[in-house]
Amino acid sequence: MRSQTLTDFLAAARAAFMSKVVAPEAKVSLSHIFTALESPGIMSGATGARLPTCAHLAEATDIKNLQDVSLRRLIETFLALEPDLQWGLRKGDWTNAGPGFAESHANAMIVGPGGAERRSDVWIGVSLVAPNIRYPDHTHPPEETYLVLSPGQFMQGADNWVEPGVGGTLYNPPGILHAMLSGDAPLLAFWALWAEPYKA
Ligand SMILES: [Fe+2]
Repeated sequence: MRSQTLTDFLAAARAAFMSKVVAPEAKVSLSHIFTALESPGIMSGATGARLPTCAHLAEATDIKNLQDVSLRRLIETFLALEPDLQWGLRKGDWTNAGPGFAESHANAMIVGPGGAERRSDVWIGVSLVAPNIRYPDHTHPPEETYLVLSPGQFMQGADNWVEPGVGGTLYNPPGILHAMLSGDAPLLAFWALWAEPYKA
């Protein structure tokens, strides 16, 4: 049984991603993702765990000046779910990570491998990066759509850094190199990956 907090979060994520997404490929990807999520996976039952970087959560999720209804709902449902999440450091490659990266980021898988709901077809999670930290360059086979909830810059392939802004989205095609970079504010972004074609 999927918990009520996760049910509420996934409904809010569906509404927020679908209302903000621009790239046609991302629309197709998200439609695969949220259709698959109509069938629940296995609840992990694990106890939530935070990292020191989570001290930035309050600032990163402050919605008092946020007007957008779908983004407000996304943050509210995320905060209700957050105590059940296991925050951890990035696994894998740390190429080009900025100084202090180890102490200055936290990721949580919400649904997906090791997530609050365990499944391998869809990965939805969140990244929190402390101010003025460069996240490593990385790639992964599944295509990915980011929904950005804070200031901060993003890089993709050989392109320049861009700042999508609050409510901005980015689509990463399968295998493309990408990274993110926080400015003076913490960076908060949700990501949704369609992993069904790559399931083990
Ligand atoms: Fe990624």
